[in-house]
Amino acid sequence: MLYFGVDYYPEHWPESRWETDARMMQEAGINVVRLAEFAWALLEPEDGRFDFEWLDRAINVLARRQIKIVLGTPSATPPPWLWQKIPDSALVDENGTPREYGSRREYSPTHSDYRAHAVRIARAMAQHYAANSQVIGWQIDNEFGDRCYAPGTRLAFQNWLKERYGSLETLNECWGTRFWSHIYTDWAQIPVPVKRVHAQHNPSLHLDYYRFMSEVYVEFQQLQVDALREICPPEQFITHNFMGFGYPRINYFDLAKSLDLVTWDNYPRGFWVTTQDIAPAPIALGHVTMRSLKKQNFWVMEQQSGQGSWETLPPMTRPGEIALWAYQAIAHGADGIVFFRWRTCRFGVEQYWHGVLDHDGQGRRRYVEVKQMGQEIARAGTLIAGSEVRAEVAIMLSYDSRFAFEIQPNNPDFSYERHLTDYYTALHQANIPVDVVAPDDVLNGYKLVIVPALYITEMETVQHLTTFVERGGTLIVTARSGVKDHTNIVVNHVLPGLLAPLCGVEVQEYDSPLSGEKRALKFIADDFAGQGKAAVWCDILKPTTARVLAEYAEDFYAGQPAVTLNSVGSGVVIYSGTMGDATFVESIVEYARQHTDVQSLLETPPQVEVTARWRGDQRLLFILNHADVTHEIKIEDGYIDLLSGQEQENILKLQPKQVMILQVT
Ligand code: GAL
Repeated sequence: MLYFGVDYYPEHWPESRWETDARMMQEAGINVVRLAEFAWALLEPEDGRFDFEWLDRAINVLARRQIKIVLGTPSATPPPWLWQKIPDSALVDENGTPREYGSRREYSPTHSDYRAHAVRIARAMAQHYAANSQVIGWQIDNEFGDRCYAPGTRLAFQNWLKERYGSLETLNECWGTRFWSHIYTDWAQIPVPVKRVHAQHNPSLHLDYYRFMSEVYVEFQQLQVDALREICPPEQFITHNFMGFGYPRINYFDLAKSLDLVTWDNYPRGFWVTTQDIAPAPIALGHVTMRSLKKQNFWVMEQQSGQGSWETLPPMTRPGEIALWAYQAIAHGADGIVFFRWRTCRFGVEQYWHGVLDHDGQGRRRYVEVKQMGQEIARAGTLIAGSEVRAEVAIMLSYDSRFAFEIQPNNPDFSYERHLTDYYTALHQANIPVDVVAPDDVLNGYKLVIVPALYITEMETVQHLTTFVERGGTLIVTARSGVKDHTNIVVNHVLPGLLAPLCGVEVQEYDSPLSGEKRALKFIADDFAGQGKAAVWCDILKPTTARVLAEYAEDFYAGQPAVTLNSVGSGVVIYSGTMGDATFVESIVEYARQHTDVQSLLETPPQVEVTARWRGDQRLLFILNHADVTHEIKIEDGYIDLLSGQEQENILKLQPKQVMILQVT
């Protein structure tokens, strides 16, 4: 079943309205709602006194309309009485400032009393709702993530280090603490990397702290997972709402492990977006990453419906965008879409975060759009749900490298996220399905693997990559890979370190261009029609076993190798010594494809996205026109469009923002 829902806050509205809401939802095809993830003060009005009656009544109203429920545990919003009871439970930010009460996410995730209270309310909810067949799942907390520097967190960090390193001698050795006289003689001396230091903290300490904070959330989540699992039947899934590819502070592969389902919050037109044109590739990368965390279909737990903001308003979602973005998620493997939020709230911080309905409870353009999609989903949903995306290309996402680049970006223009997004965009434009893989993944089944800037490189990854290439895979490795070891210390090898033998190159020297500077490249290999320029980083290469594909054509390293190709076993490795501009990245991807038989699903104009979902050998082709103009696309087979029910032959004509889901006739 394909779930189609809304995030609903019945507690924000008079009970007399609930029936109207449920009816309007049912009429719009809504079959699931998420409830209660911020309702702690109503669920536990006083320490230890629980009140589920109002929620029961709301669930009953929804149940009569055949609407299923996902319940959120409310640990993101502590009620005032709890804050008063444990005033030292505040999260302390990197400037050393404790959060004041008054918004949400004020808590320190290491605070033992806070944890106990969070588990207690989760447990009480579980006991009350485990037997309720209307409840199909649980969301734990809401968008985990801020780093905490409180005294209790520092103590927890010191204990974490003790477990990890065993002795201070080992820690001192691994971190290189003799630098600037940091040789620790007592675990209690070890700081957390607050900003109030003269320069920077030791990068090894810093990376360990980032890893630790990521694990803190995994652990905090696990406490609630355990409480729910103990009480609830296995049919009730447990999830958390992630923040997509863009969120950098938690290792999402780790966070996903003990959950049944990954869900995430997708806001393509949030207040932070400064352009009218919303590029489809970065949104798609969010979906791809979320699908890849557990290598299974996912949900969007908050899909933007109206314009989103707290203080100043960005442009309203354009006609067609709500359904387009929701279908885009489905196109990439979502089996559930939940729109944020049902009705725009009249009070509180999110007064201007627009939902499906307006403040006055009327359903206007956005409601009509959701309702139309609801009707389409009612027809096509069962054919789609459970079908899978299949990819032959993978991009490696290393949270260790991402954390380490956050500490030392290497070049002012370098962004790990952007670099990875550039490679993904090149594939997305060619309508090639992609998975995101972790550094410890075995790479069976892929034909092309891209390893962008794998700064922290472990031997295990090198082994997997080597096996992959030997067996015929095509690999792209880019600059700043292999630079650091596990403890964030620069390797004692010629770069790219552990990857040098596989890449067949040695980095002789490197240049870090000034912001915005580019260097011309000369593409010297007959088989490589390269384009674009070097940018952000320039490794000056010396091939050992590789051959040169491109040289620098400028600066003191003009004539020196920039990009190489190495043959290993039945496969090849492309090493790019530069991040390059978008054109360069496109041509590298294009060249890599020449070594594989990876096919585009369909050639389309820019802004027309194509994906496929499979069940056995049955394929559904999703065609999404993100453009504001009509596009015509040539097709070969005859299809039926599941959304309109119309047959399509020879030419597809897609109106602006139109989506088709095609099945071969
Ligand atoms: C999400 C959050 C929601 C809501 C929404 C709009 O990040 O999970 O609770 O705040 O953004 O701001």
